[in-house]
Amino acid sequence: MAIAVTGGTGTVGSRLVSRLTGRGQRVRALVRPGGRRPAGTLVDAVEADLERPETVLDALSGITDLFLLTPLHPDQASLHRGLVDAAKRAGVQHVVRLSAFGADPRSPVPIHRQHGEGDQAVIESGLRYTLLRPNSFMQNAAQWAHTIKARDTIVLPVGDAKVSMIDAGDIAEVAAVALTEGGTDGQALDLTGPRAITYATAATIVSTVVGRTITHVDIAPDEAARVMASNGVPDWAIAARLGLYATLRAGEAEHVTTTVADWTGRQPRDFAEVAPDLAAVLRDG
Ligand SMILES: NC(=O)c1ccc[n+]([C@@H]2O[C@H](COP(=O)([O-])OP(=O)(O)OC[C@H]3O[C@@H](n4cnc5c(N)ncnc54)[C@H](OP(=O)(O)O)[C@@H]3O)[C@@H](O)[C@H]2O)c1
Repeated sequence: MAIAVTGGTGTVGSRLVSRLTGRGQRVRALVRPGGRRPAGTLVDAVEADLERPETVLDALSGITDLFLLTPLHPDQASLHRGLVDAAKRAGVQHVVRLSAFGADPRSPVPIHRQHGEGDQAVIESGLRYTLLRPNSFMQNAAQWAHTIKARDTIVLPVGDAKVSMIDAGDIAEVAAVALTEGGTDGQALDLTGPRAITYATAATIVSTVVGRTITHVDIAPDEAARVMASNGVPDWAIAARLGLYATLRAGEAEHVTTTVADWTGRQPRDFAEVAPDLAAVLRDG
């Protein structure tokens, strides 16, 4: 078995590289040319630009099992089609793809549609595959640091939506099992944390971590769009986020699954367990 990981310096990929090497597994990490690389004696870093799938072909030579993610991009789907094609031509046998909860090629929500189209590319490739469809990452809380520091608030247009958010480490754990123990012959795994919580509950947990009272402030989507635009977020990314927030408000991210426990043999971590890991960034911005 020869395993390659894309995004090995990112939120899920860095945790995946640690888990794989922790099992004594050698890992080929495909890294951005000239970019960061994951540390470790069992890690072989090979440069490949995920936005130029033709650069990925050589980097995948001899690889049997590939963890594939696509970075956030205005056209993730066509990027993904090129990457899957490169994997197939390189002789990869099994792809573990990082997709998203709610992925559906017919979805009106841009992120869900693009992930659905990315999934479709893997499904149509003829490769063996395992699709990981995680809900919102608990580590997204790091993005709240700015308003926590400035105003003791978490500002999101999500009302009292409940979300079964998941620890990125638990996603990595399932990916590590799928990569080293054969994965599935074409299953999509919805991955969630142990319970769905509101952002008011998340704020209460963050309050404990930072040692002062933090509250969730709900704002209108239009206002959120104005704030994002003034912070330089491009239009496509604003549309993507607003589409996602609408699904949260509609209750589409509340569902809790047992997949993490089924695959790892232990319960997924709760936000109250994960938030202390983020203490420094939540406290200091
Ligand atoms: N956040 C959520 O709540 C959530 C939920 C469900 C699904 N997802 C999906 O998860 C995926 C992102 O995963 P993540 O959050 O773990 O990633 P991330 O933290 O954003 O990191 C992206 C990784 O991809 C690498 N990368 C980016 N562009 C590259 C390029 N052109 N060539 C080579 N490497 C490149 C980065 O390398 P550098 O370190 O060099 O930049 C980094 O290792 C997305 O598809 C997203 O839609 C996210």
